[in-house]
Amino acid sequence: MKLVVCKSYEEMSEKAAAIVAEIVKAKPDCVLGLATGSTPVGTYSKLAEMCDAGELDFSRVKSVNLDEYYPISPDNDQSYRYFMNEKLFDKINIDKANTYVPDGSAADPDKACADYEKIVDSMGQVDIQILGIGQNGHIGFNEPADKLYPLTHVTGLTESTINANARFFNSIDEVPTKALTMGIGTILRAKKIIILANGAAKRDAVRKMLDGMLDCSCPASMLNLHSDVVVICDEAAYN
Ligand code: PGA
Repeated sequence: MKLVVCKSYEEMSEKAAAIVAEIVKAKPDCVLGLATGSTPVGTYSKLAEMCDAGELDFSRVKSVNLDEYYPISPDNDQSYRYFMNEKLFDKINIDKANTYVPDGSAADPDKACADYEKIVDSMGQVDIQILGIGQNGHIGFNEPADKLYPLTHVTGLTESTINANARFFNSIDEVPTKALTMGIGTILRAKKIIILANGAAKRDAVRKMLDGMLDCSCPASMLNLHSDVVVICDEAAYN
């Protein structure tokens, strides 16, 4: 794993956006693996600025997102589909028909997961996967557990994740308790991975990931199996 420690959230976002921008420029029909959460918001703003300035063209880019709550309608302002439209897709010239988020409104969630895995596969390789990291070390919604799933699956959310995400909802009771998420293997198939972390709350998870061992209690540690991972974090998340 390559480690880049930044002075601020701003710098972290700039570095991440620069890496993604380089790939979009070099391969205009690339596949981006995208994440939600507060961490990548700055990165998405920078990418939108570059698109606005005519420096980046997303017209042939495709994207796959890591996860989605279940059950949730795409119109719900807490859904990850809504988040992606608002924070990125509506601000760049990507064709929304080429953007994929697991279907949180599917009647059959297991089938929706199997279908999603096929969609990711059908795109060939994801050129760059952007990840955040949970305070508990999760990536996507792959929560700490005795065993981890290789492929896209339905998962229950841990108390730690429900508590961490409650800030986005009116009350903790409204936080969905399930999600559809790419598995660890789905994520690891990306050609390149960048994982972003800012703030002291992420310090323990970042430390466990950088420890270099594979530990199911820190799903992000499975990234040690990949040969091209860049950890971009601020000083608070690293020290
Ligand atoms: P956050 O979430 O960016 O909102 O901290 C990260 C994650 O849970 O993966």
